[in-house]
Amino acid sequence: MAKTTETVDKGAEARNAPGADAPVPVLERAPLRGEISRRGFFGVLGAAWATFTAAVVGGTLTMGRFMFPNVLYEPPQEFKAGFPDEFVVDNVDTRYKASHGVWIIRESTGFYVLSTVCTHLGCTPNWLASDEKFKCPCHGSGFVKTGINVEGPAPRPLERYKVTFAEDGQLLIDKNTKFQEEKGQWTMEGAYLPYNG
Ligand code: FES
Repeated sequence: MAKTTETVDKGAEARNAPGADAPVPVLERAPLRGEISRRGFFGVLGAAWATFTAAVVGGTLTMGRFMFPNVLYEPPQEFKAGFPDEFVVDNVDTRYKASHGVWIIRESTGFYVLSTVCTHLGCTPNWLASDEKFKCPCHGSGFVKTGINVEGPAPRPLERYKVTFAEDGQLLIDKNTKFQEEKGQWTMEGAYLPYNG
């Protein structure tokens, strides 16, 4: 009997001990194989949402680029270059070299228009007035005022573009039509514009 009384007293001691009424913390169970924890679940959900958002944003940007493509400025292939009297006889007019890629040459009998593209590898030669020739800075090709190649690796003359008079009397240059000397095209109509004014 004395043993039983001792057991009851120990239980009462435990219930009355300091902190006995404090809430017992709930220990989270470690995930078993094949399960994911709550934190892991939300991590996966967040990653999936980020991937989805990135895909939507990327698709929107692609669509935007498709709807608003980059616009490259290209000068018109056909343009008016001014009235005949604005050009000096025996002079190479370089005003349209940078903007339209042509030289306009006036002779006492008319006009012709040369391309500024070197026939070697496509560099842009310079007109050297004192030497009376076009000189390419890349590999040294030289062309006389008519466009004939005379030095360097260029295999053929500069090309000419079509030149006519517009209705208002200005020179009308059409870069859609070109003439190559080696093909006998410099004698074709449009390769040279007669003018005796
Ligand atoms: S590109 Fe003109 S000489 Fe080579």
